[in-house]
Amino acid sequence: MRSRCKCGMILVTVIERKLMNIAVVFQTRSGNTKIVADAIASALGVEAKSVTEPYEGADLLFIGGGVYGLDVDPTMKTFLDALNAKTTKRIVAFSTTGMTKSAVKKIMKAAKLKKIPVDKKDHLVIKLGFDHKSKPQETHKQQAVAWAESVVASLDATPTLVATA
Ligand SMILES: Cc1cc2nc3c(=O)[nH]c(=O)nc-3n(C[C@H](O)[C@H](O)[C@H](O)COP(=O)(O)O)c2cc1C
Repeated sequence: MRSRCKCGMILVTVIERKLMNIAVVFQTRSGNTKIVADAIASALGVEAKSVTEPYEGADLLFIGGGVYGLDVDPTMKTFLDALNAKTTKRIVAFSTTGMTKSAVKKIMKAAKLKKIPVDKKDHLVIKLGFDHKSKPQETHKQQAVAWAESVVASLDATPTLVATA
């Protein structure tokens, strides 16, 4: 993390996460959910991966996608079907959408079916309206990052300050 103090010097803060394996996985058709997933992943120090890429599990899985006809994309369904509680220890759901919560609901339902812990209250829905052309803005990315960081903090995986130069 870089910040500038009043004297103009750049302060570099080194943070260290507790040993929690975090994954950020997204499904997208027009790029909206990838924009949000990338912002979350970057803030958490990992790389966002598509649902179509190999996934081996995580202590904490952020999984998000778009909504299409009140449903999720088939590639998301395939990903959710393949999840298991032995390799994925906890799920948090996010979505970009015109308006409805269909994707987060389907993700949370899948988690429940697989007996993977998921906090139904703790999900993120970024509503972009029904023109289907709006893109996530900087404020949406900031909202997503704040949400993701609060999720991690609530699981007691708060970054630990190890050095400030
Ligand atoms: C064909 C199509 C169908 C959609 N259906 C819905 C819908 O039923 N409900 C809704 O709230 N948004 C709907 N949307 C909006 C998308 O969920 C929204 O644009 C989302 O950000 C797309 O994510 P993506 O760019 O990651 O694919 C639809 C969009 C498209 C293109």
